[in-house]
Amino acid sequence: MKPTTDPRVAPNESPKTYRVKSFGCQMNVYDGERMGELLDEKGLSPAPEGEDADLVVLNTCHIREKAAEKIYSDIGRLTKGKTQKKAPMIAVAGCVAQAEGEEIMTRAPAVSMVVGPQAYHRLPDMLDSAVAGERATDTDMPAIAKFGALPARKRRSPTAFLTVQEGCDKFCTYCVVPYTRGAEISRPFSDLIDEARRLIEAGAREITLLGQNVNAWAGEDDAGRPVGLAGLIRAIAKLDGVERLRYTTSHPNDMEDDLIAAHGEVAKLMPYLHLPVQSGNDRVLKAMNRAHTAESYLRLLERFREARPDIALSGDFIVGFPGETEEEFQDTLAVIDEVRYSQAFSFKYSPRPGTPAATMDNQIPRDVMDDRLARLQERLNRDQRAFNDALVGKTCSILVERKGKLPGQWLGKSPWLTSVWFEGAAEIGDLIEVELVDAGPNSIAGRIPQTANAT
Ligand code: 5AD
Ligand code: SF4
Repeated sequence: MKPTTDPRVAPNESPKTYRVKSFGCQMNVYDGERMGELLDEKGLSPAPEGEDADLVVLNTCHIREKAAEKIYSDIGRLTKGKTQKKAPMIAVAGCVAQAEGEEIMTRAPAVSMVVGPQAYHRLPDMLDSAVAGERATDTDMPAIAKFGALPARKRRSPTAFLTVQEGCDKFCTYCVVPYTRGAEISRPFSDLIDEARRLIEAGAREITLLGQNVNAWAGEDDAGRPVGLAGLIRAIAKLDGVERLRYTTSHPNDMEDDLIAAHGEVAKLMPYLHLPVQSGNDRVLKAMNRAHTAESYLRLLERFREARPDIALSGDFIVGFPGETEEEFQDTLAVIDEVRYSQAFSFKYSPRPGTPAATMDNQIPRDVMDDRLARLQERLNRDQRAFNDALVGKTCSILVERKGKLPGQWLGKSPWLTSVWFEGAAEIGDLIEVELVDAGPNSIAGRIPQTANAT
């Protein structure tokens, strides 16, 4: 930790309430929850909805330029009283903190703390410094030390994230993650079983295992045998109380046979796979350093479909990677037409400082990227709608996550991760049989069949 005394920063009153705002990926959501738990232990409490917080933690994302720039406007809004009446103490966490810590400290004097994704277990100590008027930056990357220093899980929720693996060694040429999150590391098997147990005790019925390359997770089971992600999934599935398991995000090159097989064998493993392809053209994939081809990706998906015929497929796409021609872009559309994703995420290429692609020739003009993204999303929307339409008439279990907008309405997820809303007798955390009756572009309306009982 590097404390810096700054004459502009007066000693602050000790904050009593906090709010963590997480942007970007689900790993940030997990980190945000854990920072909240640390602050709870320190005696702070979450600011009630709609009320000012004394401390605001901006848990940032650096993956695309827009996401990274957002932080400065958020800080401005907080200090100018636009977000809440009283300007709070501000901490910046997450990947922008890691990548631009020093710059944030210079550019935003209102920020008291800057803490990277591998150092946030030190947030309570940094808070003491901030209260004493010292601004503090901590962007160290100690391998895995963080998890041992975090308090036990206790957040009550029917769905929970569990980070099993962090970091990335793949170095796709467009991506900042290997620089902001560091090298791939796997958390130990026994720690994960322990954390899963605690999540279940706190009410989790669905656990999503998280990692930048979650399927690269590797460890040793209690008997000292080497296990991969499939082994971890099989072990967590044996725990009483958890009913659903998911994992994200995977890389095509780390896919083991056993993980594919698990989709056909482990009933609690949900029929859903998020497997980014980024591009459907082999020249572009090579320039991206993806180390797979469009064909090898498609064959992999075929094997998942053989193991679990109803599996819903999701992916990530980048349009306008440097040098991408119209014909190469069309190869991506061809992959979409072949796979028919149930949902997917798509982005315009965004040059990230320090990555090889940022300085490649033939950066694609914005209007070309806009046009390609619109055409690509039209197909993804078409397929998502078709997927939802095909579910109508089916009855499936829905895990109730929260109340809907209208009184008596509930919102939950199908096994295929579609949002489903319905009315009737239910509670948050119920797994309930619901008949799917009416599909929309992003969700499906359901109803409880007369004979069904909540479990
Ligand atoms: N520009 C646009 N999209 C990106 N992604 C990662 N880096 C970039 C970038 N520089 C996308 C990829 C990845 C997802 C998390 O974000 O599709 O899978
Ligand atoms: Fe980024 Fe590629 Fe690693 Fe995914 S696999 S985090 S896109 S470098």
